Amino acid sequence: MADQLNVLVICGSLRKGSYNAALTRALPDLAPPEIRFVAAPSFAALALYNADIQESSGFPKPAEDLAAAIRAADGVLFVTPEYNWSMPGGLKNAIDWVSRMKDQPFKEKPVAIQSCSQGPLGGARMQYHWRMSMTFLGAFIFGTPEIFVGNAAAKFDKATLELTDRPTKDIVKTQLAAFAKFIKRLKAGA
Ligand SMILES: Cc1cc2nc3c(=O)[nH]c(=O)nc-3n(C[C@H](O)[C@H](O)[C@H](O)COP(=O)(O)O)c2cc1C
Repeated sequence: MADQLNVLVICGSLRKGSYNAALTRALPDLAPPEIRFVAAPSFAALALYNADIQESSGFPKPAEDLAAAIRAADGVLFVTPEYNWSMPGGLKNAIDWVSRMKDQPFKEKPVAIQSCSQGPLGGARMQYHWRMSMTFLGAFIFGTPEIFVGNAAAKFDKATLELTDRPTKDIVKTQLAAFAKFIKRLKAGA
């Protein structure tokens, strides 16, 4: 499809029963037809960022793969929990690796974020740290509506982890439609 928008989805949780991963599975049904979601390559095997590794053997393959996927995407959607009021360490480590590349892949890339947490604020505090990092990297950051899925255990089916909460579905749908418009405007140079 000529107007198709490839949106790379980076999930910040590595665990099997993740609510954030469950939210990523709900996205295709809530998105406008022009969005095609692509799951990001895993960053689970990435070494902790160390400039000595970078200098002696270059960037690890998972970092190169992630950077290539970001470059190839029309936009990037993060779906991630909050750990200790900030980004999960594994996700931050992945961002740190790709941020050291010459043609740093987040530069001028449309990015948006959603978060699920089992706490009441739904990852809000983490999102502001993420916005700071993305600002430094020169990404084009989508604004509102923001998606904070708090008390996640009550919003997904206990057995299947299917997203069941209607208001959450509605706001995610609104955000994805607005993100698609945001990407299109940027692509058109508006
Ligand atoms: C290391 C760690 C730190 C956490 N810190 C927070 C926090 O700051 N705020 C919050 O709302 N939940 C916090 N949680 C609870 C998460 O919201 C909960 O584990 C959630 O299910 C994680 O997302 P996931 O289901 O996608 O793995 C923390 C969990 C872990 C493991």
